[in-house]
Amino acid sequence: MVNYPKVVVTGASGFIAKNLRKHLSAKNIEFISISRNDFKKFKCESKIISNYFDEKNLLTKIKNSDVLIHLVGIGKQSVNTDYHIVNTGLTNYMVNLSKKAKIKKIVYLSGLGVSSNTSIGYFISKYNAEQQILKSGLNFTIFRPSYIIGKDDYFTKYLKKQVKKGEIKIPGSGKYSIQPIHIDDVVKIIFKSLSEEKFKNKIIDLVGSETITFEKYVKLFSKGTNTNIKKINLEDSYHNAITNPKSDFGIDDLNILIGNFQGNHTKLKKLTGMKFESVMKLLESGRLL
Ligand SMILES: NC(=O)c1ccc[n+]([C@@H]2O[C@H](COP(=O)([O-])OP(=O)(O)OC[C@H]3O[C@@H](n4cnc5c(N)ncnc54)[C@H](OP(=O)(O)O)[C@@H]3O)[C@@H](O)[C@H]2O)c1
Repeated sequence: MVNYPKVVVTGASGFIAKNLRKHLSAKNIEFISISRNDFKKFKCESKIISNYFDEKNLLTKIKNSDVLIHLVGIGKQSVNTDYHIVNTGLTNYMVNLSKKAKIKKIVYLSGLGVSSNTSIGYFISKYNAEQQILKSGLNFTIFRPSYIIGKDDYFTKYLKKQVKKGEIKIPGSGKYSIQPIHIDDVVKIIFKSLSEEKFKNKIIDLVGSETITFEKYVKLFSKGTNTNIKKINLEDSYHNAITNPKSDFGIDDLNILIGNFQGNHTKLKKLTGMKFESVMKLLESGRLL
């Protein structure tokens, strides 16, 4: 029988965390979730509401848990929140707090395309967060996900909104590719990483089986609806991202989208032994709309 660990989840009201918490609860895993905002608890869940991960409030509550799943992150900067503070700084902070709490392992979601050669600000902050974890001496599993797709992810919500308005804008040619992975598969893999030895101290690409151009993705997504697909000059897209804080795509959203980042799905399939959801089939079925 597998002896499941006691788990702590940060960023509890985020997209991945919500789906993961539901899964942990369904598996009867005891877990503690931390968020800045109040939220409804699942079965087997304890909650901590904390604005600044204040040590006094947290330490005794999370002490002697086994695994921290750190799901705090931002993909857009402002003068109030920047990548360095949130993505790198809070990871570093949680690594140190985990050590004090005698937590043995950290699971972290980085990003597909993160590497020591990157010049993208978002990826640099993720790379530096990874380095904090590698240096910590804690056991770890670091995942580098592509676009994670479900009913309530940002990408899908954004496209749904565009479909409602009757027009989807594609920055540039749309010929660049993404390798989406379904949230249910992501949650299952994170769950496996909590107890299976083969995930220990690895950095793993989290990518689906299909590589698909953005143009094709958008066409399939909006199939059967009355949606006009409009290509926007890339220079105009970047100009909008730079000058309009409310633009659909931020600068790094564009960098990542057109970056053509690819991962090794075969390796992931072998490691997990799982059968993966086909995001293409999901798109074709119209179930994401
Ligand atoms: N979704 C994807 O496709 C994808 C792909 C690659 C990597 N990732 C990474 O996976 C992680 C989770 O992603 P997600 O899609 O679930 O993102 P999300 O829905 O935006 O959730 C991120 C959570 O981070 C917490 N957070 C944000 N800013 C914070 C701040 N200043 N101080 C403290 N907490 C803050 C919030 O938690 P509370 O509101 O609960 O406090 C927020 O809900 C992130 O690190 C992200 O970069 C996601």
